Amino acid sequence: MKILVTGGAGFIGSALIRYLIQHTSHEVLNVDKLTYAGNLTSLSDVSDDPRYRFVQIDIVDSQALKQTFATFQPDAVMHLAAESHVDRSILAADEFIQTNIVGTFNLLDVARRYWAQLPADKQSRFRFQHISTDEVYGDLPHPNDADFTGQLFSETTPYAPSSPYAASKAASDHLVNAWCRTYGLPILMTNCSNNYGPYHFPEKLIPLTILNALEQKTIPIYGKGTQIRDWLYVEDHVEALYLVLQQGHIGETYNIGGHNEVENLQLVHILCDTLDKLVPQSTSYKTLIRHVDDRLGHDRRYAIDASKIHKELGWKPRHTLEQGLQKTIKWVIDHRAWCIAAAQRKSAAVDRLYSSH
Ligand SMILES: NC(=O)c1ccc[n+]([C@@H]2O[C@H](COP(=O)([O-])OP(=O)(O)OC[C@H]3O[C@@H](n4cnc5c(N)ncnc54)[C@H](O)[C@@H]3O)[C@@H](O)[C@H]2O)c1
Repeated sequence: MKILVTGGAGFIGSALIRYLIQHTSHEVLNVDKLTYAGNLTSLSDVSDDPRYRFVQIDIVDSQALKQTFATFQPDAVMHLAAESHVDRSILAADEFIQTNIVGTFNLLDVARRYWAQLPADKQSRFRFQHISTDEVYGDLPHPNDADFTGQLFSETTPYAPSSPYAASKAASDHLVNAWCRTYGLPILMTNCSNNYGPYHFPEKLIPLTILNALEQKTIPIYGKGTQIRDWLYVEDHVEALYLVLQQGHIGETYNIGGHNEVENLQLVHILCDTLDKLVPQSTSYKTLIRHVDDRLGHDRRYAIDASKIHKELGWKPRHTLEQGLQKTIKWVIDHRAWCIAAAQRKSAAVDRLYSSH
């Protein structure tokens, strides 16, 4: 297959491309604008492979997309390009509306017109896979709440996004489903929980905590740190994505999650305890933790019911949280220069949020 991957220079997109080049025989075209979050060095393990190509394109530019489809002639699209950081969306939502909504619309429309003129056999095999988030469902009752019964997000949970980021992803999901229902575009949708692992931009909780600890900088925690997230190691996510591409049923959504619910503060403690063993200092890294003002509209709990993808496609994560965190910490220690260079592209405005009282 020829697979067009958008956002392939980002955290999950680069893990997906490394997987596709290293574990399959497909050709991959990486379509990426290279925003602050895009980094071609994340692909250095595969960028010399003749089956990999890169083109710098903004998906808001539909002419450039048309040209790219005409030249590359993809058999499938895996759409990951997005503005992805909730804090940035709260500070300024413009880019989120442009890339996540307008960009997804452009991609869908260019893909639909391209797909419609394919010969019948290629048309029946074509897939448009949209990579989305569990944040579109809003949040779930927390164990501290009276109505907590261990609820999980399923594929039929109504959409109730809280942040501008989640709302823009929800809008993109609705567009993707509409292009399937109205035009018959053969789509697949995945909604995944929080990812972590190698090449994660150090503005997100796990890489930020590890890097700040190693640099002996304060480790910010929003509010009391009781928010619960369901963590998934990124390599488990990309295996699920490829399985859905190969075997998923057209028009269907698959929720992907790690069954690893943990409060943010507890997670940071696990990271500090692990670092205390691997890179001991005179005092525990926990002494660097500082509570800062909570994020506006902060979702309190996410948790995924991944039974559909397990029952229908046989997927389950390979890594426990402990194994994934060990690998991630070791990766940051071994790639500290990559992390420090990436951290230099962090937003000063987001940094100010992390130091507010
Ligand atoms: N990170 C998570 O925990 C998580 C969980 C579930 C779903 N997702 C979804 O997975 C996808 C990838 O997430 P990520 O964490 O790798 O994001 P990321 O921010 O690390 O990477 C996004 C990539 O998209 C590119 N991009 C941004 N705007 C673009 C545009 N207009 N045109 C072309 N390229 C553009 C960036 O340059 C970057 O390479 C996103 O759609 C996100 O919503 C992420």
